[in-house]
Amino acid sequence: MSGKEYRKVKEAFQSNWIAPLGPFVNEFEHVVAGYAGVKAGAALSSGTAAIHLALKLIGVQKGEVVFCSSLTFVASANPILYEQAVPVFIDSEKDTWNMCPQALEKALIEAKRLGKKPRAVIVVHLYGQSAKMDEIVTLCEAYDVPIIEDAAESLGSTYKGRKSGSIGMFGVYSFNGNKIISTSGGGMLVSDDEEAIDRCRFLASQAREPAMHYEHEEIGHNYRMSNLLAGVGVAQMEVLDERVKEKRRIFGRYKGALSTMEGIHFMPEYQETKSNRWLTTITIDPALHICPMEIIEALEKEHIEARRVWKPLHRQPLFRDCPFYTTAPEVPESELLFQTGLCLPSGTSMTESQQERVIDMFRYFLQKNQSHNSSFPSLHL
Ligand SMILES: Cc1ncc(COP(=O)(O)O)c(C=O)c1O
Repeated sequence: MSGKEYRKVKEAFQSNWIAPLGPFVNEFEHVVAGYAGVKAGAALSSGTAAIHLALKLIGVQKGEVVFCSSLTFVASANPILYEQAVPVFIDSEKDTWNMCPQALEKALIEAKRLGKKPRAVIVVHLYGQSAKMDEIVTLCEAYDVPIIEDAAESLGSTYKGRKSGSIGMFGVYSFNGNKIISTSGGGMLVSDDEEAIDRCRFLASQAREPAMHYEHEEIGHNYRMSNLLAGVGVAQMEVLDERVKEKRRIFGRYKGALSTMEGIHFMPEYQETKSNRWLTTITIDPALHICPMEIIEALEKEHIEARRVWKPLHRQPLFRDCPFYTTAPEVPESELLFQTGLCLPSGTSMTESQQERVIDMFRYFLQKNQSHNSSFPSLHL
């Protein structure tokens, strides 16, 4: 928190707008949509709710197919199951770690052949890095499939000067506690389609028809954000650009200190994109014979929390029967990233000396282990 949020919360209390509507909700929607450069936004209880409602607005039905990036958090795909639709996962590529356009094309061709055109494509911008949107948009236009950008991790990032989340039919942001800015929990659906966003607000408010006697014609959800939390969001938006700068400074310090170490590679920043560097993420060359879990455990002993890269969804038991498309000749790119990837502590409240300590411990561990040169443990998926 920046310290400014408390004033907004107090204001909400004083005005007694403690409800899933109120002036801060409207203001937050206005500010976020303006920042993204789109016409409208609906403040919701989570990013997951925003993905769910995007699927409903597109009209995804039971049994229909929805494509989704495989290398992501489960929340990107869970809403496909809420609608009893069928997720089809697409592999990553090396330049952005995100949806591979060639694998997407392969999946689209196959879907056409099977007569199972996807109703939507959910493209994730992992750890703040935008996917290759030009290629993905061209393909989706050719096959007439709407895009939902899962920009939960990439608020503040840009693709060719455009804000992440503003390119597809819908963009999704998350304000969960771990995100670049937070309302403790919350999300937003943004779009240039103002009518769709109006309907999103309607579906998020139990689909209550405009009648005094609580009339309902269709299934709704209780997905609106409270005015209290929206107040926090309004204040957080004031510091978003500063947070992006700080995240990038953190990334820069790690890179400056560690990129000269053999076998350590930093997540790329693709040409004409700017990442918010939500998490500083690296890969460790298997030739070093050190797996990410060993580093995580060693750092944990020093009370330093590091994390694995997301386990690809096509390898999750939950999605075991779902199709997966890759163009990799051997191991899919998303699996390689999972096997070798590591997210370093990246919180903006971390001090420089705390980060120095992380760097020192990381270096120490790597050097110590390189001399031991243990064999690369087999992967347990
Ligand atoms: C890629 C991605 N998509 C969706 C979500 C879901 O957002 P929320 O936690 O606000 O539901 C998250 C984070 O939690 C995420 O990292």
